[in-house]
Parts: sequence; structure tokens; C-alpha cells
Amino acid sequence: MKTLKIAIQKSGRLNEKSVEILKNCGLSFENYKSSLISTVTNFPLEILFLRDDDIPEYVQDGIADLGIVGENVITEVNADVEYLQKLGFGKCTLKIAIPNDSEITDISGLEGKAIATSYPVILEKYLQDNNVNAVVRTISGSVEIGPGLGLSDAICDIVSTGGTLKSNGLKPFAEVMKSEAVLIGNKGIELNEDVIELLQRIRSVLRAKE
Ligand code: PRP
Ligand code: ZN
Ligand code: MG
Repeated sequence: MKTLKIAIQKSGRLNEKSVEILKNCGLSFENYKSSLISTVTNFPLEILFLRDDDIPEYVQDGIADLGIVGENVITEVNADVEYLQKLGFGKCTLKIAIPNDSEITDISGLEGKAIATSYPVILEKYLQDNNVNAVVRTISGSVEIGPGLGLSDAICDIVSTGGTLKSNGLKPFAEVMKSEAVLIGNKGIELNEDVIELLQRIRSVLRAKE
């Protein structure tokens, strides 16, 4: 059988828990910070360490058979993948936030304002659903410094503990989408015995945590 490939986040909020769940499945592999690929020594599996933003497309295109990534990232790139299992970690909310001293009080107050985000597709849809015309400024990271630099009046980004907002003088204002880590698979994935075995192990790790 062909060696399976699973893509996980290289660094960031989901990395540690993604590695942990695979280790708890009894998989042995080296987790060097510098290597982008790791071979599991006791199961026909390779682990690809990627930027989370790239994972849905890698799985959609079959470069990886499986992936662990936040639902928000899948929605943003509108990836055509199979949702196999919610993983119960990486829970967060995509929120719009404004400076603590902002005069904006409701969503209509965003009319004509600039919002910085790494999630332009999700944000545009949210604004459309709420009949607000705002300027969406797409930046790939460190979105929270936008208002401080005069780049935007508000931001739309992932909030987990809220620490990043707080340390940048921002307060959450509206909830756009809830998200958590999910296991996804390529649409054409063959449910061979390796895939079934891996899914079973992941599910029993999750059950043991309940
Ligand atoms: C998100 C977001 C913030 C941080 C918020 O990044 O962009 O930087 O988490 O977390 P907090 O509320 O606990 O402070 P993410 O981990 O999704 O990584 P990425 O933006 O680099 O993909
Ligand atoms: Zn990312
Ligand atoms: Mg970020």
C-alpha cells in the first residue's frame, strides 16, 4: 500500500496539539523544528509540516491524503475536502475588533471603514449579509497592529485567549465564525485498512478524553 501523508501545522496554535494527538495514536516520529517532513517508523505514514493556510489546498489536490487544520482556514479557501472528524482542540472565534477608544458601537458603524484581515472571503460575506460596505484590507499576519499603524479602523482575526487583542489595545466587537481543528481528507481518498486504522485510533484517543 502507498504510504499515507498527513499535513499538520508547522508552527502556531494547532501545531502542538496536532503532534500530541498523533503521538497519542501510538505513532513514533521525530518532531524536529527544522524538518518539514517526518516519517512515522511504526505505521505507513508521513507527516508534512506546513503553513496552516496551505493545508486545505494540499489535501484538496491530493498532495496530502489527510490534514489537520482549523475550519476557518477551510472555509476561507473554499476547499473541496472531506470532513472526517472534529478534533475538539484549537477552539476559537473569528471576531471583528476595534481599538478600545473607538467610537464604533454597532456593525452599521463599520460602513465606509477599513478592516484589516487574513480572512477576506469570510469577512466579505459577513459584511454582505449585514448590508455593510467596508474596505477590506488583506494582510497575511500580525493583523492586530493594523489600527495602531493607521492601516485600518478595525480588524477581523482569530481570537482564542484574547491575549493578542488585549496587548494591542483592541476589544472584540462582533462574532463572525466559530472554529475548531478538524481532520480532513482528500475527496478521492481510498478507505483502505491504513486509513481506517488511523481513523479508529484518532477516535479512540478522542473518546478517552471525554
Ligand atoms: C491567531 C490570530 C492571533 C492569535 C490569537 O493566529 O491570528 O495571532 O491566534 O490568539 P489569542 O486570542 O490566544 O491571543 P493563528 O494561531 O491562527 O496563526 P496564523 O495567523 O499564523 O495562521
Ligand atoms: Zn495561518
Ligand atoms: Mg495570526
